Amino acid sequence: MVKVLFVCLGNICRSPTAEGVFRAMVEDAGLSDVISVDSAGTSGWHKGDPPDLRGQQAAAKRGYDLSAQRSRKVVAGDFDVFDYIIGMDSRNFADLSSMAPEPARGKISMFLQFAPETGQREVPDPYYGGEDGFGEVLNLVEAASKGLLEDIRARHL
Ligand code: 4NP
Repeated sequence: MVKVLFVCLGNICRSPTAEGVFRAMVEDAGLSDVISVDSAGTSGWHKGDPPDLRGQQAAAKRGYDLSAQRSRKVVAGDFDVFDYIIGMDSRNFADLSSMAPEPARGKISMFLQFAPETGQREVPDPYYGGEDGFGEVLNLVEAASKGLLEDIRARHL
């Protein structure tokens, strides 16, 4: 099993979107038995909460159902369990790097490393912005999900 963990600050906007989109892509590819997907936040501020309603609605328009997800905080054991630990922005990357034991640091990446064609490094935080912020998150997440699946196929399958 290849295990993927998406991480943002609150685990209510960006990383739940990434979890929902990437899981759908994995299902469509018939790879649900070999790739597992989860998400978490570097903060526990929204622990137990469902994804932001604006994000759920934007995702639903594209056919992704995020409603069953609940926010959780990254825990120490995640660095043992997961093969890919993927932050949305450089703050997530720095926070994960400082939390991770040295041998696990190489598992940490930034999601848009898998979508160099976007020309962007970070998935911007849509929490304090308008509706279109969530559409932009979806565009970036869909692009990076394709690249991530290719990376997993090339390196693990
Ligand atoms: P996320 O967005 O990291 O994409 O889930 C945020 C959600 C909540 C907060 C910040 C970012 N907050 O400050 O509560």
